[in-house]
Amino acid sequence: MDDFLWWRDGVIYQIYPRSFSDSNGDGLGDLIGIVSHLDYLNDLGIDAIWLSPFQPTPDKDFGYDVSNYTAVDPRFGTLADFDRLVEGAHLRGMRIVLDLVLNHTSDQHAWFRESSSSQDNSKRDWYIWRECPNNWQASFGGSAWEYDPGTRQYYLHLFTKEQPDVNWRNPEVRKAMLDVFRFWLEHGVDGFRLDVFNAYFKDPDLPDNPPKFGLRAFDRQRHIHDIDQPEMIPFLNELRGLLDSYPERYAVGETYLAKLQKTISYCGEDKLHAAFSFDFTSNDLFFPWDPAWWMDQITRREEATNQASIWPTTVLSNHDLPRAASRYSRGEDDAQAKLAMSLLLTLRGTPFLYYGEEIAMRDISLKRGEILDPPGRKYWPIYKGRDGCRSPMQWNDKPFAGFSNTRPWLPVHPDYTRRNVAAQQADPDSMFNFTRNLLHLRKETPALRRGSFIPLKTPRGTLAYLRQTDDQCVLVRMNFRKSQVNIAQPAGEWRAVFTSAEGARGRLTPYEIQLFSKE
Ligand code: GLC
Repeated sequence: MDDFLWWRDGVIYQIYPRSFSDSNGDGLGDLIGIVSHLDYLNDLGIDAIWLSPFQPTPDKDFGYDVSNYTAVDPRFGTLADFDRLVEGAHLRGMRIVLDLVLNHTSDQHAWFRESSSSQDNSKRDWYIWRECPNNWQASFGGSAWEYDPGTRQYYLHLFTKEQPDVNWRNPEVRKAMLDVFRFWLEHGVDGFRLDVFNAYFKDPDLPDNPPKFGLRAFDRQRHIHDIDQPEMIPFLNELRGLLDSYPERYAVGETYLAKLQKTISYCGEDKLHAAFSFDFTSNDLFFPWDPAWWMDQITRREEATNQASIWPTTVLSNHDLPRAASRYSRGEDDAQAKLAMSLLLTLRGTPFLYYGEEIAMRDISLKRGEILDPPGRKYWPIYKGRDGCRSPMQWNDKPFAGFSNTRPWLPVHPDYTRRNVAAQQADPDSMFNFTRNLLHLRKETPALRRGSFIPLKTPRGTLAYLRQTDDQCVLVRMNFRKSQVNIAQPAGEWRAVFTSAEGARGRLTPYEIQLFSKE
């Protein structure tokens, strides 16, 4: 094969460990559960697994509040289980990407327990303590400052009050964090997803953020002092030096409050390999289904990433967003989910697939009293939180969808008797087989992995583009409408390589996707 580079040419599959597979019957997924599905993932055709946090956590933000960075939460397994997972993945040619949540710790982390024990504790300065709060807001609601009656000062938390922000300006903190990377690199980890990395550094003077128009108090200020500080770049340089001292390691950043240009500024040969710019999901309440809007977003990011020689990332779903199939599909029909999957897998950039996306899992809906996610509890009913997209993986039609033999931590979607991996594997027209076929086609088609992106003019309601390398060209055509559209036959010697429907050259049936190739 050509010079395949796993994080650029491959597809990364995100697992939310507590919802993937429960091997020990406690209702929570675990690492051994993942190990038992490595063959499934390999057969699906993915190249790397991103694991959401599995470190010890008091679950105030379901894993994103870590109380020990270099251990495994006993509910999810042991370090030996983790080593088995890495070994099993590597044996099958798949990489492991770890989620590191280093902007804040849990308030139960030993560092914070020490820091909050007294004003003169040696770790006091490992967190951000002040006599008086400024106007900063926590993104999960309320002031970003919490008063600690014990030591009579306020500490900063950009998320829940149980997630105190660490002080990245303290050299000891910086060293301790780099040691966390080293620890996992030594355990064979291939890459990292850095949670809200661009919030690590705050303006040292902690000035008020200026006001702007917005709905929630959090949105009514411009976040210019609490994120995106210049000190971030030298740290990324240092981190990249560490990663490059191992072969083919990778780091992708979750850009908090992402703006395309800002996101790009954090990537490069001596910075991150990639960062999420969330071009298609940046407004998490509004998801347009309009090909003109998509083309506009795509061309904007094409221009910006090409100019900066940055490899883009494509994300349609993750543990923070309503699932793509819930956003775009109507009822039980997966036609629109298939179209969204085609965009994910054929645009230029590394696709990030979210567990269950391959069977078009839908969000669960919960009653108010069942909601676990802190922002959902806070903002219900305007915003119902993120539990919806975190329900257990639907493996088969057995009780609890084959995820567990006991009641899981979140309810299984009631459609699991029809919508599950086993049923879809047996159905050639299923979302699963659609996704698997497209993943395998992508693998053997350099133009789909690496080719440049060339937009084409097409009739309203449709979207078409070329992906082109020196010796191969792929034509992608999609119909976003629920009615048939006539479209010119592609001129020249095109070979049909993939379709979701009948594949006629002069028309696209409702929501049809067609791919042609030319050598
Ligand atoms: C990131 C995570 C999200 C978490 C937050 C705080 O945005 O993706 O799940 O709640 O950071 O760690």
